[in-house]
Amino acid sequence: MRGIISRYRDLMPPEIQAISDDKIVTLGEGGTPLIRAKNLEEYLRTQNPKFAAQVWLKDEGVNPTKSFKDRGMTGAVSYEKSIGRAAVACASTGNTYGSAAAYAKKAGMKCFGLVPEGKVTPGKIFLASMYGATTIEIRGNFDAAFALVKQLKDVGVVNNIHPYRLCGQATAAFEICDKLKRFKRVPSYHFLPVGNAGNITAYWMGYTLYNKMGQIPFAPAMMGCQAEGAAAMVLGRDIENPETEASAIRIGKPARREEATRARIESGGRFYSVTDDEIKEARKLLVETEDVFCELASATSVATVIKLNRFGRLDFWKMVTVVCTLTGSGWKDLDTAFAQFIPQKSIVIEPKLDDVMDVIRSK
Ligand code: F0G
Repeated sequence: MRGIISRYRDLMPPEIQAISDDKIVTLGEGGTPLIRAKNLEEYLRTQNPKFAAQVWLKDEGVNPTKSFKDRGMTGAVSYEKSIGRAAVACASTGNTYGSAAAYAKKAGMKCFGLVPEGKVTPGKIFLASMYGATTIEIRGNFDAAFALVKQLKDVGVVNNIHPYRLCGQATAAFEICDKLKRFKRVPSYHFLPVGNAGNITAYWMGYTLYNKMGQIPFAPAMMGCQAEGAAAMVLGRDIENPETEASAIRIGKPARREEATRARIESGGRFYSVTDDEIKEARKLLVETEDVFCELASATSVATVIKLNRFGRLDFWKMVTVVCTLTGSGWKDLDTAFAQFIPQKSIVIEPKLDDVMDVIRSK
């Protein structure tokens, strides 16, 4: 099976390159679709007639465990396995945990997930449990779980502080540039949700490396998107009790704050926040316009584009290229989806052809 490490081996750190392809723990992550969102662009034009940008969506929800975390986990777990570790652990709002569980199982290792009690979607806990991981619920939030996991001994901690996680996540930036090159485009703005601030750091690593290699003439402005109740990067300080329905990014003390701040400054980007209602609206709009079903946290990127466009805040009247990362699938976040999308009632009939035909004709 080929994953991101075998595809971008030359761009990996020496310690990862030293692990041969047959020893790499992979589930075939990466190679996710980059979708030109023409219907969403149409919507943005109705909001603001001057809108002339192209919008592309990087759908990370189609990775093996349905989030971008798999790109980082292949390197982190491969490394931990290569040094003979028997177990990995992570603090998580759910996606890191599901990913760690799957890759650990593939590697024949144990996995422990420290999660905030009652604040992780059941789908995410289910996924990790299915892969045989042990869930440890902490009476506290993600930040409390993260403070604990950092102190663990003799297990590989595969959170974004792991030295070989972000190099894998950076491959999403390579894929975006590689694909857009075929359309003679380079990303001008990159919008993505920010929680613990690892992914924005990883993308910036990827873009700057590609820029240095001459693969892209310039790197995009990094636009970090947060939920209003958990906007530690926007506020420039930690938050003791972060609150948002977008549970994946319910984080008050971003571990990669410094690196993410540097990414913002160096790229000429910014951090923005949106309300939970704006996030929900964007998630719904993505289903309606582009048939993409992402989790709430993921829709933060598009919600921010919509908000900025409404107020004419960026130069979207130019033919700039906007990329939004949709970090995870909606299928692990069904409770919030059930609450938002009223399911269509099914029609119950006798097993008769005429009755089926009546229903078909009535629609
Ligand atoms: N989107 C989703 C769906 C996430 O699960 C996360 C983080 C983020 C965005 C933010 O990425 O932390 O690199 O800034 N989830 C982590 C977890 C915290 O435990 O699954 P970040």
